Amino acid sequence: MAERFDKYMERCLYHPADGFYASGRGIAGRRGDFITSPEVGPLFGAVLARALDVWWHELGKPDPFPVIDLGTGPGTLLRALALSRPKCSKAWQLVGMDRANNVELPSDLENGVVLANELLDNVPFRIGRRASVGWEEVFVQDGAETWAELEGAPPAFSGSELMEIGRPFPLHTAAAELMADVISRSPARIVAFDYGALTTVELAQRGGWLRTFRNHERGDDPYLAAGQWDITTDVALDQLPPPTSVATQAAFLRAHGIQELVVEGKAHWLANAARPDLAAMRMRSRIGEAEALLDPGGLGSWLCVQWAFGSPSLAP
Ligand SMILES: C[S@@+](CC[C@H](N)C(=O)[O-])C[C@H]1O[C@@H](n2cnc3c(N)ncnc32)[C@H](O)[C@@H]1O
Repeated sequence: MAERFDKYMERCLYHPADGFYASGRGIAGRRGDFITSPEVGPLFGAVLARALDVWWHELGKPDPFPVIDLGTGPGTLLRALALSRPKCSKAWQLVGMDRANNVELPSDLENGVVLANELLDNVPFRIGRRASVGWEEVFVQDGAETWAELEGAPPAFSGSELMEIGRPFPLHTAAAELMADVISRSPARIVAFDYGALTTVELAQRGGWLRTFRNHERGDDPYLAAGQWDITTDVALDQLPPPTSVATQAAFLRAHGIQELVVEGKAHWLANAARPDLAAMRMRSRIGEAEALLDPGGLGSWLCVQWAFGSPSLAP
């Protein structure tokens, strides 16, 4: 029987016995299949800790201050945040949540911040295209794709009427629902980092938005060895609830002091190079980590998408 692409992807990634994440392969990290920003090293978390302090002050130093890392994976970002010990850590309730650990998001996230690094690209998506009449989407049958009439409401992103006939694009129905659900719990801010583009039309024209990964090897055939490969997509932001701001990851990290942390790291290393300890090594590693995190051809070009509520600063 034909299965809609998102249902197929759901099985490939999250089936409790045979899915990519269930099988333990989907552990982000140096020995894993992909390297995310927290996995580059503790610097990403150190910058986010500074940002959390800014937001905490703007909110009037709430206590408790809920900080949720949604889609936390192995929890590396949480550990880096804890290591940084920002001022807000005396009030924060720092929690990592992942569909794998079955913890329910609290119904009320008032005054809280939700972080989501490379979550949205991993939420099962559909694949659509405009047909000469109406819309079609991908179904999977016997390990191959077939196109059939799109189920439910037609896509509603901006410029959908201009979409070229026959050009496939990702349809983020579940990711949009997930973000709407998080927003409905009234956090002060949601901060998502991901690869993507502002519009679906742009992604469709660019192509190459669907990727698979295994052992740092990149593929593009999601039907090959189902369950053994990660399946991921660039995220089209115009399908999500409208964000308050969008910047590149590099711009966000610069605005929140990554360069100062690197300068501090170099100085600490120089002062301790004769008898380096773990802290000094960590400080030295900030130099290489910053290069990776700001790389305009890689992590630096990821988007930092924010939904801020109330009257907090919008800088970036
Ligand atoms: C690519 S990994 C990123 C892990 C981590 N945030 C990082 O940056 O290293 C995506 C994670 O999102 C989780 N995930 C996917 N859909 C989710 C959902 N609806 N709610 C919570 N976690 C989800 C997956 O289980 C996976 O651990």
